[in-house]
Amino acid sequence: MDQIIVRGNGPLQGEIPIAGAKNACLTLMPATLLTDQPLTLTNAPRLSDIRTMTALLQSLGAEAASLQDGQVLAMSSHALTSHRADYDIVRKMRASILVLGPMLARDGRAEVSLPGGCAIGARPVDLHLKALEAMGAELDLRDGYVHAKAPTGGLRGAVVDFPLVSVGATENALMAATLAKGTTVLKNAAREPEIVDLARCLRAMGAQIEGEGTSTITIQGVDALHGATHPVVTDRIELGTYMLAPAICGGEVECLGGRIELLSAFCEKLDEAGIDVTETARGIKVSRRNSIRAVNVTTEPFPGFPTDLQAQFMALMCVAEGTSVLEETIFENRFMHAPELTRMGARIEVHGGHATVTGVDGLRGAPVMATDLRASVSLILAGLAAEGQTTVSRVYHLDRGYEHVVRKLRGVGAHIERVKEE
Ligand code: EPZ
Repeated sequence: MDQIIVRGNGPLQGEIPIAGAKNACLTLMPATLLTDQPLTLTNAPRLSDIRTMTALLQSLGAEAASLQDGQVLAMSSHALTSHRADYDIVRKMRASILVLGPMLARDGRAEVSLPGGCAIGARPVDLHLKALEAMGAELDLRDGYVHAKAPTGGLRGAVVDFPLVSVGATENALMAATLAKGTTVLKNAAREPEIVDLARCLRAMGAQIEGEGTSTITIQGVDALHGATHPVVTDRIELGTYMLAPAICGGEVECLGGRIELLSAFCEKLDEAGIDVTETARGIKVSRRNSIRAVNVTTEPFPGFPTDLQAQFMALMCVAEGTSVLEETIFENRFMHAPELTRMGARIEVHGGHATVTGVDGLRGAPVMATDLRASVSLILAGLAAEGQTTVSRVYHLDRGYEHVVRKLRGVGAHIERVKEE
């Protein structure tokens, strides 16, 4: 397994290009199952999760080719040859559950392995299933799979009132509703930019959707969708991650392709912490001239502070002046980066969903272990600011969500390299 070695090297300077959003692409790709015509995605990120979703779609009989070094995904599914998403793929990537709604809507049947839990939490899919049942699907949970059947005549429009905000359940229901008979109303729907991006793509394919980005989305089912070409929205989590590099190290970095509207709550917290954030014609410029102020953060569904940036923000708070409390309200076990940061000299106390971080003057490099995707970059950010060398192991977590991390950070002056583990 590879390792990433980082050495603190003072302020950063330069530009970092931001890729297309992993979490948008993982829901846009299953949309190809809704039509027998070609769907092409541009600005696609080059990540292992995208390759896993490509393999899943191919296992169902879709054609999915990645062109231009992976930045273009050309897909089409004339006729599905299988309706079964196998456990060996689903266990590697939970987003595989997002083929359930489209397959049900398109062909009236699907067999999808239940994803099981993951490092950050149990992550059930009950809300996905309840939404599809509301549209008339008959679901049979057996041998670890959801065996799903649409009623004769296909799924029916329904009012779905989500008891809690779920990005994935909103996406599954939204895609299924585009071909359901009649009107579907999704209440307490997720408002993430990735949902807005999915709705825009579905509309380009002929779907009739209103209200995306608000808590209520209304969909008029249509008989069929056609193909489209759609640019994947910028990855707001990669954007926020790299904005934290100059914040924690000092200097000035421009993140190309970002817009503040994608992560305004995060930018407000950076501002409170004394970080300068300026939107430019090409993206977002971040700089730090003074000390970092401790600020409190509570993660919430969009437009609140994103849970996917909590680990990275904690690295910044480790070297802030004062004490900050980070409250994680979305997932039940998303502080696994804390003990690793503590190995670098951070002072963090975790009690249930709260982490209290007392800022220290500086961190010291140490061997640390990545435990999940976002924790892995939190450790790299800490290593950028630490005295000495930090070796991050299990970087396969990183490859799921960040393309070319070493190249992008080297490009702004970081001392970072990727090596084969001895
Ligand atoms: C998406 O996961 C993202 N993944 C996650 O990003 C992100 O952290 C999460 O949304 C929240 O923003 C993708 O888009 C591929 P949820 P998702 O359904 O859809 C509970 C990353 O690092 N819940 O909004 O699985 C669930 O347990 C990943 O890129 C149910 O109880 O998240 C959680 O507590 C990590 N029942 C909360 O809702 C359900 O049926 C929010 O989950 C579904 C969810």
